Amino acid sequence: MKPLLNKVTDKLNRPLRDLRISIIDRCNFRCVYCMPKDVFGRGHPFLPREKILRFEEIARLARIFASLGVEKVRVTGGEPLLRKEVEKLIAMLTQIPNLDITLTTNGSRLAEKAQALKEAGLNRITVSLDSLDDTVFRAMNDVDFPVAQVLAGIDMAARVGLSPIKINAVIKRGLNDHSILPLARAFRGTGHILRFIEYMDVGQTNGWRMNDVISAAEIIETIDSEMPLAPVDANYKGEVAHRFRYRDGSGEIGIIASVTQPFCADCNRARLSADGHLFTCLFATKGYDLLGLLRSGVSDEQIVDFIVGVWQNRNDRYSEIRGTETVILPKIEMSYLGG
Ligand code: GTP
Ligand code: 5AD
Ligand code: SF4
Ligand code: SF4
Repeated sequence: MKPLLNKVTDKLNRPLRDLRISIIDRCNFRCVYCMPKDVFGRGHPFLPREKILRFEEIARLARIFASLGVEKVRVTGGEPLLRKEVEKLIAMLTQIPNLDITLTTNGSRLAEKAQALKEAGLNRITVSLDSLDDTVFRAMNDVDFPVAQVLAGIDMAARVGLSPIKINAVIKRGLNDHSILPLARAFRGTGHILRFIEYMDVGQTNGWRMNDVISAAEIIETIDSEMPLAPVDANYKGEVAHRFRYRDGSGEIGIIASVTQPFCADCNRARLSADGHLFTCLFATKGYDLLGLLRSGVSDEQIVDFIVGVWQNRNDRYSEIRGTETVILPKIEMSYLGG
């Protein structure tokens, strides 16, 4: 497709490089900071099957986005490994030239899926894991899921050669702040990259308060006091995580400080919800219906024009303006939109 389109930029001159696709809005966990049980209970209206993007539709959109300059696609959810035959989708996506494909999972089904994912062409994976303490972990996922099973998934992923493995830990004050050091100790020297995420005010259901956020500075200080750290340059412009290495050479960690050090200025990420709506920010209040467009039988060129139009109009920078005018916005849930 037309190479000139690689130059599409938004109103703040940010290119489109990264696409995050939620392939399912369901999850088998009820993490307290993401899908609190009282909201996502039995009666919760998840998307009906016919409203969810089919694999062919996802692959077509991924190709179109790649033609617009997207270099990386992250498959998310909900929990993406709950989607039936997810490895078939991965195989379709990994055939698209010049596209780095990766996936973020809660790890609950990873032990059984890792081999198939690797065979489908997946190279690396990110696993969410908020604590190694079984009691704390069960309380955070709120479905009594044992941490050992996620650790078995991580081991299997390493064994089949999904590498590097990134481990994401969201830290919430009073809930798992005591897990910071044990997580760092456990993954140091393993080759896995542990990343701490500041607890964010995504969605409207998690009751976020600034006081619940443990800042990146606090996290770094905690680890550095026991295991000295040094900052490392970013791998690429716009990298979400700040990197640090252990001074003794035993590996690296990352910190995602979207609350205390927002990174909107370089944000090149578009998001696709499970029902095929395009969002230009994690905190966007509305999406653009690509699924409807796709199913109305339009050509790739028409879809390209639509996406270009949306991107050229984009001026989101939520994390930078958080607080003042943003509190009352009807924000979208992360389980629907994808992390
Ligand atoms: P790699 O560098 O390829 O590993 O990707 P990544 O750092 O984007 O990885 P990942 O998807 O694991 O992102 C980690 C977390 O950072 C997400 O789960 C979100 O919590 C947060 N995050 C990612 N992108 C954004 C963003 O655009 N805005 C905000 N506010 N947070 C983000
Ligand atoms: N704040 C920060 N990170 C979150 N995640 C989910 N909800 C939040 C939140 N409120 C993380 C998950 C996972 C990724 C997809 O997003 O733990 O690692
Ligand atoms: Fe599920 Fe991930 Fe949300 Fe937890 S954070 S409820 S694992 S989608
Ligand atoms: Fe990008 Fe929005 Fe996150 Fe800022 S808040 S980094 S614009 S997704």
